[in-house]
Amino acid sequence: MRRALIGAGGLAALAGGGAWLLRRRDAAAYDRLAVETWRPPRMAPPLLRELVRCATLAPNSHNTQPWRFALAAEGLRLLPDPARRTPAVDPDDHHLFASLGCALETMLQAAPVLGLRAEAAVDGAGIATLRVSPAPARGNDLAAAIARRHSTRLPFDPAPLPAADLASLEQAGGADPAVGLVLVSAPAARATLAELIIAANRAQIRDAAFVAELLSWIRFSHAAALARRDGLFAGSMGNPAVPEAIGRRIFPLVFTEAAETRRLARLLDATPAFAVLAAAEAGPRGWVAAGRAAQRLCLRATALGLATSWVNQPVEVAAMRPALAALAGLGDRRPDFVLRLGRGPAAPPSLRRPPQDVMAEEQA
Ligand SMILES: Cc1cc2nc3c(=O)[nH]c(=O)nc-3n(C[C@H](O)[C@H](O)[C@H](O)COP(=O)(O)O)c2cc1C
Repeated sequence: MRRALIGAGGLAALAGGGAWLLRRRDAAAYDRLAVETWRPPRMAPPLLRELVRCATLAPNSHNTQPWRFALAAEGLRLLPDPARRTPAVDPDDHHLFASLGCALETMLQAAPVLGLRAEAAVDGAGIATLRVSPAPARGNDLAAAIARRHSTRLPFDPAPLPAADLASLEQAGGADPAVGLVLVSAPAARATLAELIIAANRAQIRDAAFVAELLSWIRFSHAAALARRDGLFAGSMGNPAVPEAIGRRIFPLVFTEAAETRRLARLLDATPAFAVLAAAEAGPRGWVAAGRAAQRLCLRATALGLATSWVNQPVEVAAMRPALAALAGLGDRRPDFVLRLGRGPAAPPSLRRPPQDVMAEEQA
């Protein structure tokens, strides 16, 4: 029999080769979908659907994409998706509304490219309404950056950023007087901030609920990332993609306090500047405003050729917030985010669900 001729070793090799071919096919499919996902804004009707597609490219916590877009008489309403809450890391939905703010800012920046004038109003519950009307089409460098912005969880070039870049970042991130932006680039302050981030990160790794929730959003393989088109893809986090079962088995062995502290310390050491943002208003409307400012900052950084990456551990661990606020001189404001800024390498981009999965007619 042929089977007998090949033998058990040969069969295992064939099976291994087959699995390897499947993984290569998934990796190629991932790359193709990533290119399609990260298309720049373009005047492709229906325009509101294209606007929603652009919005979905916004940064968002754990890549949960916690948004829904309702077609309304005036344009669009941007609503939270409670099914995509992350209660362990974000018990009060701060990051959820901040993610909506990032999406809102993305739509406001993309609209002119689509030949639309867009105006936003946000109510006290953090629900945004986007009024849209036709306007002459025009491009701008922040809109052009929408499809090039990614979170880069890899080491940056530690060389200081030019003063002109810092000024430009300050202008973009600080454009809304209701959201404070502090750039931290002096060595002593950076070192203190790094200590805070590491201490908060240690606390999170000791928190079983935080780790379980994080794990539930990690996509170890191309296949899992392709199937869900959300979550944290291993490749985008600077790790090799591996079969899902292997990833889940290896995770507890490699995601240890000691290993994560070493990895994070290397990233923080090589970061020439951090940004800390804090909205004046506490509550969902303030968090949306903070998200808008953070996305403006990220888009400006991208336009300047800089990489961005969020290190929100001292915001997420509530006990660390007062120390962070004191370091950044925020008074009694709650800090909203901490970001790393610098020149960094590229990693595979994350995926997004398509507009049809996140759009709905508004319920009467
Ligand atoms: C409110 C908010 C909080 C975030 N916090 C973190 C964080 O603490 N650590 C991190 O690595 N990424 C963080 N991110 C980045 C998201 O994980 C990232 O935007 C998402 O995975 C999509 O990837 P992309 O930014 O490359 O498009 C945060 C993003 C937002 C909007």
